[in-house]
Amino acid sequence: MASLKLWFPAAIALSTTYLANPVRSLDNGVARLPILGYNTWNAYQCDIDEDLMLSTAKLMKDLGLQDAGYNFVNIDDCYAEKNRTANGDIVEDKVRFKGGMKALNKKIHDLGFKTGIYSDSGWFTCAGYPGSYGNELRDATTFSNWGFDYLKYDNCAIPYDEITRVGIVGRYQRMTDALAEVAKTRTQPLVFSLCEWGWNQVWLWGASLGHSWRTTGDIAPKWDSLANIINFNSFITQATDFSGRNDLDMLQLGNGGLTYEESKSHFTAWALMRSPLFIGTNLSAITPDILGILTNKEILAINQDPDVGKSISPFRWGINPDWTSNNTHPAQYWSGPSSYGTVFMLLNTLDTSATLSFNLTESPWIRAGRQYSVRDLWAHTDNGTAVRSITVPRVPPHGVVALLLKDVGDEPSGISPACSVWWQCIDRNGTHVGG
Ligand SMILES: *[C@@H]1O[C@H](CO)[C@@H](O)[C@H](O)[C@H]1NC(C)=O
Ligand SMILES: *[C@@H]1O[C@H](CO)[C@@H](O)[C@H](O)[C@H]1NC(C)=O
Ligand SMILES: *[C@@H]1O[C@H](CO)[C@@H](O)[C@H](O)[C@H]1NC(C)=O
Ligand SMILES: *[C@@H]1O[C@H](CO)[C@@H](O)[C@H](O)[C@H]1NC(C)=O
Ligand SMILES: *[C@@H]1O[C@H](CO)[C@@H](O)[C@H](O)[C@H]1NC(C)=O
Ligand SMILES: *[C@@H]1O[C@H](CO)[C@@H](O)[C@H](O)[C@H]1NC(C)=O
Repeated sequence: MASLKLWFPAAIALSTTYLANPVRSLDNGVARLPILGYNTWNAYQCDIDEDLMLSTAKLMKDLGLQDAGYNFVNIDDCYAEKNRTANGDIVEDKVRFKGGMKALNKKIHDLGFKTGIYSDSGWFTCAGYPGSYGNELRDATTFSNWGFDYLKYDNCAIPYDEITRVGIVGRYQRMTDALAEVAKTRTQPLVFSLCEWGWNQVWLWGASLGHSWRTTGDIAPKWDSLANIINFNSFITQATDFSGRNDLDMLQLGNGGLTYEESKSHFTAWALMRSPLFIGTNLSAITPDILGILTNKEILAINQDPDVGKSISPFRWGINPDWTSNNTHPAQYWSGPSSYGTVFMLLNTLDTSATLSFNLTESPWIRAGRQYSVRDLWAHTDNGTAVRSITVPRVPPHGVVALLLKDVGDEPSGISPACSVWWQCIDRNGTHVGG
């Protein structure tokens, strides 16, 4: 009973906070659109230094990635000394970042990029460096003074409950508040990227605290990992819009783990689900094929659509019944709105080549009785006009089809059946005509 009594006032206080602050997007002038850039973790883990950061920025420029829109160069874990200074400040590793973060940021900014840094909502980062719990404002100030534009915030080394008296939401709220405070001294706030691995249904609360939130654990460069992430996110696409979005984790293209077709599927799904796009592979080893995928202008344009912020969503699961959650065989038929037209993604989740086919009006973004021009976003060709349905033969194993459909007027008259949803069709005289 004693513990119940203790529990009640806290619960009431918390729910009052929620009522006073209904979930809304963190629309504070930055990251309205998904951020595109590079992050060091997946390729380098702790093996990072200032030369790597600078050479990565130069490579992004030389490879045309900056021109394609990848304009953030982000440091992940392991940049700091293990101990704070006597004053309590985080300090950069004196050997690997000997010139200091401020000077490094200046050089990278001079190349036309923005920069991102990393910390953690607990005592330590995941690799054991200082975390920001209890030092949120101090660290946000440090990151801002160093010249960073972006903070990724991890979820390792959580203090005891009797110390925090809040859950994961409260721990992230502390840094949101600190960043808001620091923003008063800057021309623009830092972008805030929540890396809480999908805990406690972050898609329900993340939008009020940050610009993106990780919905799953870390990605691995293999098809199973992609299929798992796509399946999971297929059920929460509504959480994504301007200023706040599901973060599907880094792009793992070009390190040998994925086939060319899988790499195309990876990029298509991430971009059209409007995820942030951070390249996580070794740029020195990147091939022209992979570079071609990463710089697909037509697909990037939809990811960066200034007027429509929504993700694509499945309209039919395909080989599995609708709403099946299956880690290896996610939904196959997806569509979504964009200001350029209705975008479709067809995924062949099988290990063999397959024919994929759909009726246009299965997508809620398509009008019945109209015909549509078809743009193939990978072949970069106009593929004629679609009436009623589209069939794509021979989609390779784990391959993808990305199409943009534009309304080009009424469909030809006299098409049978008279309704695309035939079973509901009724003549004006009351006779049911649909089979
Ligand atoms: C870092 O801090 C720990 C814990 O306070 C202390 O034991 C250690 O000696 C410090 N290391 C250095 C290099 O100052
Ligand atoms: C990155 O790729 C280059 C070129 O292939 C190679 O020399 C280097 O060892 C790679 N670095 C890592 C960390 O894989
Ligand atoms: C996932 O879907 C595939 C294709 O229908 C099926 O073969 C497999 O058994 C399913 N996996 C699970 C765990 O149900
Ligand atoms: C597509 O339309 C045809 C013709 O009306 C109908 O027979 C078929 O069941 C539809 N398929 C789907 C998946 O809705
Ligand atoms: C569109 O046309 C191009 C060029 O003929 C072809 O390579 C591509 O496979 C077509 N796309 C679809 C979805 O049929
Ligand atoms: C009602 O419409 C149906 C379907 O077009 C037609 O077959 C039938 O003759 C019509 N009935 C009358 C009374 O007009």
